[in-house]
Amino acid sequence: MRVLSGIQPSGQLHLGNYFGSIKPNLAWVGDPKVDENIFFIADLHALTTVQDPAELRRLRHDIILDYLACGFDPSKAIIFYQSDVPEHTELMWILATLTPMGLLERAVSYKDKVGKGISASAGLFTYPVLMAADILLYDTNIVPVGKDQKQHVEIARDIAIKFNHHYGETFSVPEEQIIENAAVVPGTDGQKMSKSYGNIIPLFGSEAAIKKAIMGITTDSKGANDPKDPDTCTVYQIHTLFLSLSEQKALAVEYRKGLSYGDAKKKLLATCMDHFAPMRLKRIKLEKDPAEAEAVLREGAAKASKIARQTMEKVEKAVGLR
Ligand code: ADP
Ligand code: TRP
Repeated sequence: MRVLSGIQPSGQLHLGNYFGSIKPNLAWVGDPKVDENIFFIADLHALTTVQDPAELRRLRHDIILDYLACGFDPSKAIIFYQSDVPEHTELMWILATLTPMGLLERAVSYKDKVGKGISASAGLFTYPVLMAADILLYDTNIVPVGKDQKQHVEIARDIAIKFNHHYGETFSVPEEQIIENAAVVPGTDGQKMSKSYGNIIPLFGSEAAIKKAIMGITTDSKGANDPKDPDTCTVYQIHTLFLSLSEQKALAVEYRKGLSYGDAKKKLLATCMDHFAPMRLKRIKLEKDPAEAEAVLREGAAKASKIARQTMEKVEKAVGLR
């Protein structure tokens, strides 16, 4: 079985990325059912929104350090830059020739992005086809992602089924894996936390930046000692990500007894700093040794290319290019 996921280097890594995607991906590493864990930095996808070369270089490098600091072990998982494996774009073209326009026109993410002012390029429109290629190239079975990516995995599944039907059994049909309590992690404004909404709590920002973000979480206007409803409180919702069920219940009792929002935020800050302390330390070490990350990427790309080449040979034969 293969588990695969990608992340765009389009901004600072945040709690939504960690709990929605990174943590569930890490949970598969070392699972005896899994033959291959594959993670990549979707730099080609990022070109749809990051069009400053220096910025893209910096973000790509930052995110690989973030991934390694979070605990991806390159001896157990394949980690690479998408653009280092050209088969992603080769397969994309072949898949695009079978992808109905209607399927892409229904993609919510495209409409959302255009609505937010991102230019409606052909690349942005065909983004899901490149994502389908990322997934199908490695005969992926499971794709751990946040809920916002569910439709994209469904599109990949539709394309795989269509291809298999037309050209004969070629691809595994992938399934998304969405973690229930982290499907949509709220941001500081209560909306989905997202790099592009300016509402993130960063994983590897300075302590001051993390504090500023947490202290700025929007709350209602209840007085300091009034009973609070944990179920409608963004601070509580974010805090639960770090807690066991019994710890969540205990915290909810404190909210109902009138814990002030200021104190609730301080508790969240302490939990957050504590949880990520080992990763933050590792990140500092990695920063000092850029050659290590480069070596991981080179090795990852070589391993990924081997699988990708085999798939492309199968695909080229299937469609009549060989
Ligand atoms: P962003 O929306 O910040 O640009 P990405 O689109 O790069 O994040 O997402 C990378 C991964 O993190 C995807 O699997 C995505 O579903 C997940 N993710 C992003 N934001 C959240 C969130 N707020 N809650 C849960 N998962 C999320
Ligand atoms: N579109 C995903 C996101 O914005 C990133 C991504 C690209 C991806 N290719 C992928 C995720 C393949 C999972 C599998 O988060």
